[in-house]
Amino acid sequence: MITRRQAIKTTALATAALATWPSVHAQTNAAALATRPLSPFTLPPLPYAVDALEPFIDAQTMQIHHDKHHAAYVANLNKAAANLVGIDVAGPLTVEFLLQHLSNLPEQARPAVRNHGGGHYNHSLFWQMMKKNGGGEPTGELAKAMDTAFGSFSAFQAGLTHAALGQFGSGWAWLVADGKQLKIEATANQDTPLSTGRTPLLGVDVWEHAYYLKYQNKRTEYLTAWFNAVNWDFVAARFAQL
Ligand SMILES: [Fe+2]
Repeated sequence: MITRRQAIKTTALATAALATWPSVHAQTNAAALATRPLSPFTLPPLPYAVDALEPFIDAQTMQIHHDKHHAAYVANLNKAAANLVGIDVAGPLTVEFLLQHLSNLPEQARPAVRNHGGGHYNHSLFWQMMKKNGGGEPTGELAKAMDTAFGSFSAFQAGLTHAALGQFGSGWAWLVADGKQLKIEATANQDTPLSTGRTPLLGVDVWEHAYYLKYQNKRTEYLTAWFNAVNWDFVAARFAQL
């Protein structure tokens, strides 16, 4: 329950925050924001059983990855939301919006949103980017676009693998759309292509927590196996929405 004194303080902070907020949300009523809950982010369930991606991704890794690591990103993002006082995190300001406008966030909240918001967003996508009996190759318009961008599917696989292996320490390798142009890039930690204006279409998590139990230090083996779990239908649906 928010007290009247807190509400007044919160409203003042909200007004100050909105002064630097993108115009798309400038019309938002700051006083209304003060009464909204500040912990709105929730852990989405896995869209399949924890053992669905066996033998490529083992059940124990999936369980810990989702139930512990992703859950921690969500919990810490919600803690960070306490520093987003007055910013509309409960309504249309989704985690996507926050990550697209990091530079507009209050400075004290920015690192946590970048790391934990990025972790929440990246993992929410990652679960959907894989499926039971996945793998194979894309078809249709996505396949054509990938051939145009990379020359062939095998060249794309080699490029994504190269980016994933080249990511020093923790991070991700991505197939992204930069406008309509398909590209491969890597991000460190939980940085997401969304924050640099790209649309992530497919991403592979190369944090050790994604593979160490089964593959130990053999990131290459993990990547080779992971391609057998890719959900190309999901990637194609995201591509179709560009
Ligand atoms: Fe992860």
